[in-house]
Amino acid sequence: MTTTRPLLGSPMTRLEGREKVTGTARYAVDYPVDRVAYAWPVPAAVARGEITAVDATAALADPAVLAVLSYENAPRLHDTDDRTLAVLQSPHIAHRGQFAALAVATSLEAARGAAAAIRVAYAPEPHDVILTRDHPGLYKPDEVDEGMPTDREHGDFDTVYARAQVRLDAVYETPPLHNHPLEPHAATAMWDGDDLTVYDSNQGATAVQHVLAELFGLATGKIHVINEHVGGGFGSKGTARPHVVLAAMAARVVRRPVKLALPRNQLAAVTGHRSPTIQRIRIGADTEGHVQALAHEVTTQISALDGFVEPAAVVSRVMYAAPNSRTTHRVTRLDVPTPSWMRAPGECPGMFALESAMDELAIACGVDPIELRVRNEPTVEPDSGLPFSSRHLVECLREGTRRFGWHDRDPRIAGKHEGRLLIGSGVAASTYPVYVMASHAEAHAGPDGSYEVHVSASDIGTGARTVLTQIAADALGVPLDRVRVRVGSSDLPPASVAGASSGTASWGWPVHKACTELRQRLEALGHSVPEQGLTVAADIAEDLDDREDYARHAFGAQFAEVQVDTVTGETRVRRLLGVFAAGRILNPRTARSQFIGGMTMGLGMALLEGSTMDPAFGDYAERDLASYHVPACADVPEIDVHWIEEEDPQLNPMGSKGIGEIGIVGTAAAIANAVHHATGVRIRALPIHPAVLM
Ligand code: MOS
Repeated sequence: MTTTRPLLGSPMTRLEGREKVTGTARYAVDYPVDRVAYAWPVPAAVARGEITAVDATAALADPAVLAVLSYENAPRLHDTDDRTLAVLQSPHIAHRGQFAALAVATSLEAARGAAAAIRVAYAPEPHDVILTRDHPGLYKPDEVDEGMPTDREHGDFDTVYARAQVRLDAVYETPPLHNHPLEPHAATAMWDGDDLTVYDSNQGATAVQHVLAELFGLATGKIHVINEHVGGGFGSKGTARPHVVLAAMAARVVRRPVKLALPRNQLAAVTGHRSPTIQRIRIGADTEGHVQALAHEVTTQISALDGFVEPAAVVSRVMYAAPNSRTTHRVTRLDVPTPSWMRAPGECPGMFALESAMDELAIACGVDPIELRVRNEPTVEPDSGLPFSSRHLVECLREGTRRFGWHDRDPRIAGKHEGRLLIGSGVAASTYPVYVMASHAEAHAGPDGSYEVHVSASDIGTGARTVLTQIAADALGVPLDRVRVRVGSSDLPPASVAGASSGTASWGWPVHKACTELRQRLEALGHSVPEQGLTVAADIAEDLDDREDYARHAFGAQFAEVQVDTVTGETRVRRLLGVFAAGRILNPRTARSQFIGGMTMGLGMALLEGSTMDPAFGDYAERDLASYHVPACADVPEIDVHWIEEEDPQLNPMGSKGIGEIGIVGTAAAIANAVHHATGVRIRALPIHPAVLM
């Protein structure tokens, strides 16, 4: 039993790659199912109000139509914390696009036709959908994320800021952003007595299982959630979404399996989005750029149904030494769709603001932007006072400086042009916390020398099952082809969601633990596996409790070179370089893809993406990928990604930090800073459309 190279750190190709590129990988509505029916939702046509009548007569005239559901006749659901899941339970409409009715038919076409034929009448009420910095409804929420304080204050910001030699006071804005995974939110639901099986596109089968059990009043063991392959999520599939509840409800009513794939033009209203933010940053510094006072004050929104408060100021509690600081979050409740997680919630918009402000400070002080960041490097985490388990931001900046050729850059603003193009470059830092969530795994040795490892992990396109196989084989001390890792089902040992860049650590740790113990048990048996095999289960709850207190974060540095067309106002990115310090990189091939994917999404945030709230209709104007612009291949230059070899014993047995989200953090600021260097125009509100530069 020898391996030819270390399994952790090898660039193993995706185990399911062939299935995916040949089209045999099955997604939520791809499974062939007998007697299947199709459902199509009817979105509410008012932003706020009451449904006064639902007329299904015309829809039901088609014999292919099996049912029309609305609050009048839909099965009653039990309550959950997530009020977006109480579908068809009340005549009240909390936002435009919330589901008002559902058509179920024997064909997709008939369901869609029936949905169009349902007549819903409303008593509309006035709505309020636009966030402003002085919105009268602003209040201080209890917390910004589970357990994160809304406000933090250190020292005396007001006095020190007022006396500072250099002062910066600027407001940065990010628009609402939509996740738009390639596979829309979709489910196939089937009942067998009181057992419910759903093929569902989500980031966490165990989490969806628990929510469905709550909603339908059943034991969790009765619910089987399968998410074998998931076509992206970016946070929008991190919680159960209303489509899976509708599919399960419809299947119960029509007594047949039901498929429901949300059309893309409905996603914007019901699958979450990143809230718009308005962020005021004030920095007081000395003339050498040492930050003495820093305030980061965030204004954002939630919906009438609650939702997630974007914790954008939290990065200012981590990044720079500022002896006097204030970080706050204020939120207002609007009649908008419910915001949720989108890749690096908090850090991503927060670092657009903070890293743009650091660039402005560098220019105000006449200090190189990289040197400015180095000068403000803290010795401990500024807010908590805890030591960092590892922090190699300066090394990332230095390595990036060398690779990008930063020293050749002329710091003068708008000093470089090629014909009608202005050329500039910019830098920004990245950061993302290291999370681990309690999960379970089982490792089984068969008498034939094969191994099976079970964990209810979710591979949302990241390569999770591939990396887990590497972790398992490494711990077992056997070649990769002897190990089969099963993920993507809530019937497997319960595990956490593919979110908060925590998957590899949260699932890999119990996998490592179960496999290590199995190996020891087999060694004790002299490697003679009992006839029925040998199984070891592991969970990491105690390991997590026993960890020492450290501030655990990944860091990075991003460099961008842009050209701005002085005739059209178009910005194009010429080069992007990211250098990251994220613990041990377990698979350089899939890791590189994660970093590149994040940076590409950051490029989209900088230049293209943004949803526009229509104040009259209370609706997002962009309803498809022709109007919500994500970067196309032609928009993206070659992206150069590197990482620092980082040894950190305070993480997990693999020594890894999460890498799914840090790639998007800071990219937009690096590009905006480059646009300023090219043109002298400081863009503080994204995206950087041609119109804002003209
Ligand atoms: Mo990520 S936004 O935590 O799925």
